[in-house]
Amino acid sequence: MTKARLAAYPALRMRRLRQSDWIRRLVRETVLTPADLIWSMVVHEGEGQVPVGSMPGVARLSVKDAAAAAREAKALGIPAIAVFPHIDGAKKDASGRLAADPDGLVCRAVKAMKDAAPEVGIMCDVALDPFTDHGHDGLLQDGRIVNDATVEALVAQGLVQAQAGCDILAPSDMMDGRVGALRTALEAEGLQDVMIMSYAAKYASAFYGPYREAIGSGKLGTGSVENPGDKKTYQMDSANHAEALREVALDIAEGADMVMVKPGMPYLDIVRQVVDAFSLPTFAFQVSGEYAMIMAAARNGWLDEERSILESLGAFKRAGAAGVITYFAPRAARLLGA
Ligand code: PBG
Repeated sequence: MTKARLAAYPALRMRRLRQSDWIRRLVRETVLTPADLIWSMVVHEGEGQVPVGSMPGVARLSVKDAAAAAREAKALGIPAIAVFPHIDGAKKDASGRLAADPDGLVCRAVKAMKDAAPEVGIMCDVALDPFTDHGHDGLLQDGRIVNDATVEALVAQGLVQAQAGCDILAPSDMMDGRVGALRTALEAEGLQDVMIMSYAAKYASAFYGPYREAIGSGKLGTGSVENPGDKKTYQMDSANHAEALREVALDIAEGADMVMVKPGMPYLDIVRQVVDAFSLPTFAFQVSGEYAMIMAAARNGWLDEERSILESLGAFKRAGAAGVITYFAPRAARLLGA
């Protein structure tokens, strides 16, 4: 600032409110706490923990370890866990039949976690991709992901999850009409208290890469016409923002209690737009690729790991999110002093 400018605006010293920690804390506009975190967790059929190579610090947990993790979440003040299954390749088929198995891995994990820590909310992914041999979220017919038949399969899946004790159904498949179908089925089955957090604005993104390894869904399709190698006919085009608002409006009309934007950090503009346009809790998913980027850079000594974790999570609060689904949840809760 020049002398002339200082003279013209004698009061204009923005740094006054940054001069020490106490005043920075006092004027801070948003805060991140463990209560903002949903712990993204992968479970598997086997015993013990299997580290996920592309996500240092993340391992697939046995059902038993998932129950222990639920107790840990409670101790750390993390309100909820989002559970994702790693299914043995041999058990997958084209229709993802096991998605609706009431004795399947997800349902057993939900029961074990609710028994271990009833105070912790459990959220389940409603989508077929962990269970299909082609890796798509829906049913594949002549090279197309068919919408309405998929919605039927998703309703069957959502109902067994809800019956197992899941608190929040989180449809991540991006089929049209699935929120309304799930809500109607829940009401009909007397499960009206089960919440729906829709992945309302979910983009076809490269940032889901490490998740494929985590849940063992392999390389998507074959890339041939019969079996497309991407999810662009159902997930959103990353260039779009107005479309995200239409998706959210529809999901609210169909009965979603909460909505989500996914991925997270590259889509903070969408989080902000949704928060400003609608009055309902809006979450963001800090996805596997975002986790991997931070960890990879930190392991190379290129980023300060702890500061990057907290800054990235705090950014979601600044964008207006009610909370963040993140693989960093237990780590972040500890860093926050839980
Ligand atoms: C699929 C699903 C995906 C994720 C959650 N549910 C991947 C995809 O849509 O291809 C991604 C999670 C992550 O990357 O952390 N229904």
